[in-house]
Amino acid sequence: MSEAKRLAGEKAIDYIEDGMVVGVGTGSTVAYFIDALGRIRDRIQGAVSSSEQSTQRLRALGIEVMDLNATGPLPLYVDGADECDAHKRLIKGGGAALTREKIIAEASRTFVCIVDPAKRVDVLGRFPLPVEVIPMARSLVAREILAQTGGQPVWRDGVTTDNGNWILDIHGLRIVDPVGLESAINQIPGVVSVGLFARRPADVVIVGGEPPLVL
Ligand code: A5P
Repeated sequence: MSEAKRLAGEKAIDYIEDGMVVGVGTGSTVAYFIDALGRIRDRIQGAVSSSEQSTQRLRALGIEVMDLNATGPLPLYVDGADECDAHKRLIKGGGAALTREKIIAEASRTFVCIVDPAKRVDVLGRFPLPVEVIPMARSLVAREILAQTGGQPVWRDGVTTDNGNWILDIHGLRIVDPVGLESAINQIPGVVSVGLFARRPADVVIVGGEPPLVL
């Protein structure tokens, strides 16, 4: 599968234009994209990073990491996903970086999602849906989500996000209305963000393969 991830990550370089500030996601597929970006680093101005992990990798390759407040809107965001449906709606957050990923996706004109073929699904929800919560609200949010959705929240014990919060993974969902569920979970006090990217889906999905499939 890592070969498919590499092919997807490298294909995303096609979307780079000279002088760009590039939004960069998180994960093993994005790591291939960052490595490819390092090889053309003189063509870009810098990157806005969605995690400490990606920031370290970018800096190690000599790519300047910039503050989103200073750059303003971005032309391009490249990130992976845990699941992707036919409408380019996504589940993200397997790497616990969902909140910053969502912020950068919202700030970007074009969101290019890079995945291996195993990530494609008909209905989202087989991958447990990550929800970032303020620590004191963990049980409250878990009870609300169980009551509202029937999904089983499981605390990702031992994981603290880059924002100092915790993650609940919601198991057993079959998400037939991704936009509605995203809104409903966002309304629960204590939720920082939910790893459903439906209101703002990807614009382009690159599925790694020989050759890569561009959807
Ligand atoms: C990080 O929080 C996630 O949203 C990642 O984008 C997702 O988990 C994909 O990761 P891989 O590229 O490692 O499969």
